[in-house]
Amino acid sequence: MKIIRNIEGRSHLTASQVRARARVVMLTSRSATAVSPAFFSARAGRPPARRVAMASSATSSPAPTIRLSSGTDMPLVGLGTWQAPRGVVGAAVADALRLGYRHIDCAAAYANETEVGAALREAFANGTATRDGVFVTSKLWNDRRRPEDVRDACAQTLEDLRLEYVDLYLIHWPVCWKRGTLMQDDERASIAECWRAMEGLVRDGKARAIGVSNFSEPELAALLSACSIAPAVNQIELHPRLPQKELVSYCQSRNIAVTAYSPLARGSGVLDHPAMGEIAARRGVSAAQAALRWNVERNVAVIPKSVTPSRIAANADVFAFEWDERDSKAVARVEDGVSTATSPWSTSGPVGARNKWIKPIIQALLWPVFLVARVDVQKMGREGFLSWAWSAK
Ligand SMILES: NC(=O)c1ccc[n+]([C@@H]2O[C@H](COP(=O)([O-])OP(=O)(O)OC[C@H]3O[C@@H](n4cnc5c(N)ncnc54)[C@H](OP(=O)(O)O)[C@@H]3O)[C@@H](O)[C@H]2O)c1
Repeated sequence: MKIIRNIEGRSHLTASQVRARARVVMLTSRSATAVSPAFFSARAGRPPARRVAMASSATSSPAPTIRLSSGTDMPLVGLGTWQAPRGVVGAAVADALRLGYRHIDCAAAYANETEVGAALREAFANGTATRDGVFVTSKLWNDRRRPEDVRDACAQTLEDLRLEYVDLYLIHWPVCWKRGTLMQDDERASIAECWRAMEGLVRDGKARAIGVSNFSEPELAALLSACSIAPAVNQIELHPRLPQKELVSYCQSRNIAVTAYSPLARGSGVLDHPAMGEIAARRGVSAAQAALRWNVERNVAVIPKSVTPSRIAANADVFAFEWDERDSKAVARVEDGVSTATSPWSTSGPVGARNKWIKPIIQALLWPVFLVARVDVQKMGREGFLSWAWSAK
């Protein structure tokens, strides 16, 4: 695959400001080929893609970006790494960087950060990308909410990713679990206290920006009223079935950028929907590209996961085709409010109501297990297996 782009304009966070002009061309072929950033910007594009937010601030990266409240720029398209297995994820990250991705979404809980780190190091060493040119996100797992655990978890992630800093560090879920457990609430921990430790990471240069994930409007409001550094990003489940318009608009109106996770709804009910097929046929693209472009149109970043080279290439090619009201109206037909998230601890969105009664049952079932056992998500990443440590705690 060859991707050729030439981008100009600026990006902002609110929809009313998203009128920047851009010229983007991505030419695709079947095989994955390295294309240097210089090559990207050296070529002229097709007619401007309309209503796509762009920024030209990062000369080392041609990727369209969102300017965060921290002052840094987050590329609108990134590569997701959840459920990208060890032994495969490194190649996916390497492919993505070669193809021009400049945003990689990671988390300690994905148990693959060491391999992502090796791929990043290799890409920096062979000149595919520079550290400054790649936006790396990681996330603090749910059992690391006490200040000392926040510092240690971030240090471990940096060691695993082989980085001096992450561009964005997120509180993965708005929950506080006892260290080494699943779903066992830690009454001595709080999101407010955890956030203060997150702010310390910014001051210490370990994270360029901090944010949250899976936070609802009331959870964001509580955090905003108590923070020194406002969350730069809220990463939430967003796809045509679940647009969450109110939450997106709440975030954007408060200068909190939004990233869509599961932007392809994990392949469930979006890509095969007739309305997406209609757009795909009209625009000469795939349903996946149309789904991604719909989020990008509203200035929401997307982080589709794929370990398939042709899909990794196609998923970044979402700026070169036209988009208008007909497309947006067609996407609206896909909305049914269904979440593809399975996490039984999720408190918000459509699964929140269901989890109100499921969560206590699972908590009770797990309680005796964690009287004697501990699970270390960070070790799962480093050592490659679910690591149980017997503990008298
Ligand atoms: N913050 C959170 O709590 C949270 C939760 C979930 C996810 N995330 C992040 O968001 C990322 C993306 O979400 P996700 O992995 O849940 O789901 P997703 O990106 O919506 O879907 C991934 C699935 O779609 C397939 N796929 C990718 N591109 C495709 C294409 N062009 N055509 C058809 N199928 C395609 C992938 O298969 P192949 O890999 O086989 O190509 C994979 O099975 C995650 O990897 C993770 O980084 C964050």
